[in-house]
Amino acid sequence: MSQGFSTKCAKPNHFLTTADYTAEQLLDLVHRSIQFKVESKYHHPQARTERPLTGKTLALMFSKRSTRTRVATETATAYLGGSAMFLGSQDIQLGVNESLLDTSRVVSSMVDGIMARVGGHEEIELLAQESRVPIINALSDKYHPTQILADLMAIHEHVHHRQSKTPDQYTAHTQHPRETLKGLKCAWVGDANNILQEILVAFPKCGISVAAACPPGYNCDDDVVAIAKADAEKTGASVTFTTKPEEAIKDCDIIVTDTWVSMGQEEEKKKRLQEFAGYQVTMDLAKRGGAKPDWFFMHCLPRKPEEVDDEVFYSDRSIVFPEAENRKWTIMAVIDALMVRGGI
Ligand code: CP
Ligand code: NVA
Repeated sequence: MSQGFSTKCAKPNHFLTTADYTAEQLLDLVHRSIQFKVESKYHHPQARTERPLTGKTLALMFSKRSTRTRVATETATAYLGGSAMFLGSQDIQLGVNESLLDTSRVVSSMVDGIMARVGGHEEIELLAQESRVPIINALSDKYHPTQILADLMAIHEHVHHRQSKTPDQYTAHTQHPRETLKGLKCAWVGDANNILQEILVAFPKCGISVAAACPPGYNCDDDVVAIAKADAEKTGASVTFTTKPEEAIKDCDIIVTDTWVSMGQEEEKKKRLQEFAGYQVTMDLAKRGGAKPDWFFMHCLPRKPEEVDDEVFYSDRSIVFPEAENRKWTIMAVIDALMVRGGI
């Protein structure tokens, strides 16, 4: 019997994809992430008396494995004074005895935010529709927004420090990312997956051109391509697709790849390894393709050697480990925006 109370409240803010935000909003988030990093790592973290999430809980509803996103979110929540509650697929009734709809209504009635790693993107959209608290997309098959914020931050840091007169000192906080990212060219060599799709809806609007090489038959969603092209038109960036890695790499500043077999595609592994032949990122590929002399390499991790060899992955050109660390600072800024400030 109804108690006469509405179970709904004003729609909360969510972070489902960077496509929902402007370049200024995203770059300000990156800028705030850098302030968190500086405060915590390089200045006096003990000086922070403000713990704005004290007494609040963020639930992590993860239906897939995670190292970086989970550790980043749990540590970021703790830093802000809150509690993180990990709810893996083995732990709760979701998917076994209870639907996503019922689970989201129940969980969101008790916590202050939900970070969810799901299968189909429609699952995170359903969560957002039903939830009374902010939902953060921790990865869906379509998008991975918190990853691409960390990527923007890592690119900013790298470009800033290579121009800096004191490159050994961390000074990335002295410059806004809107000054470092515009005009860069990013080459993607790999699958047309959630990481590429998030890059496509984030980079062109920040003025970064994207040239993607994916094997024949591996294509991004039409709506994602349309967003990327419309954004690029406004900023003067370009968005191109090819099946030839060398063509994408021509004159690029950044080479990015990811696994050829995303979580949930394990049964396609054999077929994919065959169809991605020639897509491994190597020094030779970068040279053949004509990347800029100071090109650098990124990967969201976890990495398998077939998509990038050790020579590139562990070289000075690779910024994969700072990129991974930045998951913490960028997720912290998203949590702070949604759960403390009330919006991005
Ligand atoms: N890049 C990334 O999301 O890593 P995890 O799957 O380990 O969280
Ligand atoms: N494309 C990968 C990203 C992992 C962080 C996947 O979805 O499994």
